[in-house]
Amino acid sequence: GPARPQIVVLFGATGDLSRRKLLPGLFQLCSAGFIPGCRIIGVSLDDIDADGFCVIARESLREFSSRPVADAAWTAFAATLDYVTLAAGPESLRNAVLRAEQSLGAEAQRVHYLSVPPNAALPAVRLLAEAGLVERSRIIMEKPFGTDLASAVLLNARLHEVFTEDQIFRIDHFLGKEPAQNILAFRFGNGLFEPIWNRNFIDHVQIDVPETLGLGKRAGFYEQTGAYRDMVVTHLFQILAFMAMEPPTALEPAPISEEKNKVFRSMLPIEPRNVVRGQYTSYRTEDGVDRESDTETFIALKCLIDNWRWAGVPFFLRTGKRLAEGQRIISIAFREPPKSMFPAGSGVGAQGPDHLTFDLADASKMSLSFYGKRPGPGMRLDKLSLQFAMHDTGLVSEVLEAYERLILDAMRGDHTLFTTAEGIERLWDVSKPLMESPPPVRLYEPGSWGPKSIHQLIAPHAWRLPFER
Ligand code: BG6
Repeated sequence: GPARPQIVVLFGATGDLSRRKLLPGLFQLCSAGFIPGCRIIGVSLDDIDADGFCVIARESLREFSSRPVADAAWTAFAATLDYVTLAAGPESLRNAVLRAEQSLGAEAQRVHYLSVPPNAALPAVRLLAEAGLVERSRIIMEKPFGTDLASAVLLNARLHEVFTEDQIFRIDHFLGKEPAQNILAFRFGNGLFEPIWNRNFIDHVQIDVPETLGLGKRAGFYEQTGAYRDMVVTHLFQILAFMAMEPPTALEPAPISEEKNKVFRSMLPIEPRNVVRGQYTSYRTEDGVDRESDTETFIALKCLIDNWRWAGVPFFLRTGKRLAEGQRIISIAFREPPKSMFPAGSGVGAQGPDHLTFDLADASKMSLSFYGKRPGPGMRLDKLSLQFAMHDTGLVSEVLEAYERLILDAMRGDHTLFTTAEGIERLWDVSKPLMESPPPVRLYEPGSWGPKSIHQLIAPHAWRLPFER
C-alpha cells in the first residue's frame, strides 16, 4: 500500500458507481490495513451532511460489499467520512481537506476521485483549482473521458492547465481486473504462446461482454452515453490492446502505454457497415428515457488492426444490456489445419476451430480447446479442453477487486494500469466514422443475444457464446 495517509475527495459520492464499487472498495482497503490512515470527503450536488453520507455509505456496504462488514470495522470507517455539498463552494471544500489534514498530519496525500459524468469533469477540476487543492494531490478521472475527440482534447488541455500528467490517473477498471493483467503474464511470461500470437496462426478474436443488467437508476447517464461510449471505446478497446500489443521493452507505464498506443494507431477507423447497434424493446418505456431515444443499449462490431501481426485478423467485439447471460470472455480462434487426414465424418472441425479462452470474471478461468480422439474403435474426434480455474489455486481470497487494485495503485503513484491522453484521443479519432453516421438501432428482446444481424456481422464465423451450443 501507499506509505502516506490518504485524503480522498470523492466527487459523485452519492452516485451509482460510488455506492456499488468505490465506497465498498475504500472500506476494504481501509479495514484490511492497506492504507496507513484515511479520510474520505464525499462531494456531490446532494444537500446532505456527514451523517447523511454515513447512512448512504452504510447502505452501500450492506448491499454491495463482497465481503462481510464487521461492526468494529464499520465504526472505524464511519469515523473517516465527511461530506461537503457542491453548493457550499471551494472554501468549504478546502476547509474540509484542512480539517482532515489536521487529523492525519501534513504529509497526507490527496486523491481527488472524479466519479462524475463527462460534462461534470471540468467544473470539478476548476473547483479543485479554486480551492487550492492541487499540490500534493493526485486526480483519478472516471471514464468515459470526454464524449468524442474534440471534448477529450479540450478536457486534456484544461486538465493540464491545473494538474501535471504524473498527477493524473485516467481509470479504466477493466485493466484492474486480475484476468486482464493475466493476459500480460500469460503472453509475456511464457515461451509457448507468443510465437503463435499472430495472423499466421490466429483466425479471429472475440471480446464478448454481454450483461444481464439493465439501466438501474442510471438512465440520465446512459441516455447520453450508450453502449459504445460506456463500454467499447473504454473497456473493450483497452482489453483489445492487451491482447494485440507487441511485447513492451519493460513492464513499466511508459513502455506499456507506448505499445498499446501503437495498436490504437494501427486500428482502422470503425466503419458503420461493420457495426450493429441495438436497443432492447422496453428501453424507451423506462423512467428517464426519451420515448424516441436512439441510444444503443447493445453494440457489436468488427475491428481491424492494420499492422504486420494482425493484418486480416478481425477482432469482433460485443456488449449490451439485458442480454441472455452475464459473461466477459476473450476468445481466440486458431486457424484450422491446412489439410485434414481424418476420414469424413470423423468429427474434426465439426465443433468449430480450436480456441484459447480467457474469462474475465474476478476469479479468472482460462481454457484451451483442441480436438482429440474419442476412446473406442475407429478414429472419431471430440473437442477436449485444458482448463485453469483460479478457484483451484486456493488463492481466490487474495484477489483485489478491480477498483481496489487501481485506487491503491493511484495512491502509490503507479500509472501502469491507467490509460493515457494520447491513447484515448486516438480511440475517439478511430470512432469518428461510426459516431458521425451511426447505423439505426435494431430492436432486440430482453434476454436474447442481441439483434439478428449480429450473425451476418461475424459470418462465416460464429459467436462463441452461448457456450453450450
Ligand atoms: C461500467 C459501465 O464501466 O462497467 C457499466 O459503466 C457496466 O455499464 C460495468 O455494467 C461493467 O463492469 P463489470 O466490472 O461489472 O464487468
